[in-house]
Amino acid sequence: MKGLKGKAAIVTGGSRGIGRAIVERLLEEDVRVLFCGRSETSGKAALEEFQKKYGNNVHFAAADMEEKDVPEKLISQGRALFGELDFLVNNAFPFTAKAMDATYEDWTHTFMAGPAAYARMIAEFSKNRKKKEGSVVCVSSISGHISQPLRWTYNAAKGAVKQLIRCAALDLAPYIRVNCISPAWVKTDEVLKATPDKTWESTPKAWEEYHMLQKLQEPSQIAAAVVYLLSDDAAVITGHDLFADSGYLAMGPEGLGKTANFAGSA
Ligand SMILES: NC(=O)c1ccc[n+]([C@@H]2O[C@H](COP(=O)([O-])OP(=O)(O)OC[C@H]3O[C@@H](n4cnc5c(N)ncnc54)[C@H](OP(=O)(O)O)[C@@H]3O)[C@@H](O)[C@H]2O)c1
Repeated sequence: MKGLKGKAAIVTGGSRGIGRAIVERLLEEDVRVLFCGRSETSGKAALEEFQKKYGNNVHFAAADMEEKDVPEKLISQGRALFGELDFLVNNAFPFTAKAMDATYEDWTHTFMAGPAAYARMIAEFSKNRKKKEGSVVCVSSISGHISQPLRWTYNAAKGAVKQLIRCAALDLAPYIRVNCISPAWVKTDEVLKATPDKTWESTPKAWEEYHMLQKLQEPSQIAAAVVYLLSDDAAVITGHDLFADSGYLAMGPEGLGKTANFAGSA
């Protein structure tokens, strides 16, 4: 992809899952990366593995995106390491699945560690850039587009991301592009926890069939779409929500059509 080599990026939540795959893909493309996560142990373990494979152009900071001063600290750490930053990937987000039972604290946590943290990172990233070009990608979800049972907090917060990137794309144009991406069901710890035997072999067929492509998604596939949006190959794309969802959102209530029966089809 064009316009990646030698650039500098910050990725939030890069020690596991989709964020980790994004860090790895950026390193493969010779981008210098600072990533964060709350756990020092898993962050440092990931860092060690990255450094073995890709050298020392990758750094880890232990940070909780919900904390007040973290956006300012992370962006200044990135600038101290790399000079100016080219890319920001907002990926860390709380998986709070609450509905009528959501407390004041649940709402505050979900929004402050979720869309508000994304917004505060974008604001810091865009400060004092003197017309320097940049690109931001926020990880949203199919959950920001649809209803799912008992998920008011997560789905409302993901819906907010879509509106945030539109406003930020307008205000930061013409030098910074801001987009988001909506994955569907990705093979990560959170999804694994929900499988019947906590193994990928026990993944219900029904989950795979939520997607036209009939498979759960790999973190590396989502990372490829994120890095595309960061790259100059996506130079005319801003304020956009890319459905990297294997056809999930394009499908209707009839699903793959196994039970659908209409004039002339049976
Ligand atoms: N998995 C899916 O099927 C799926 C589908 C659609 C969208 N998404 C979205 O994709 C993104 C990544 O999800 P994932 O499934 O890869 O998550 P994950 O496997 O749970 O990994 C999350 C990463 O973020 C870090 N993190 C979590 N909360 C943080 C916080 N408050 N501050 C700093 N770092 C934090 C975690 O490290 P620590 O735990 O050490 O902090 C970890 O590195 C999220 O925005 C999620 O909503 C996921």
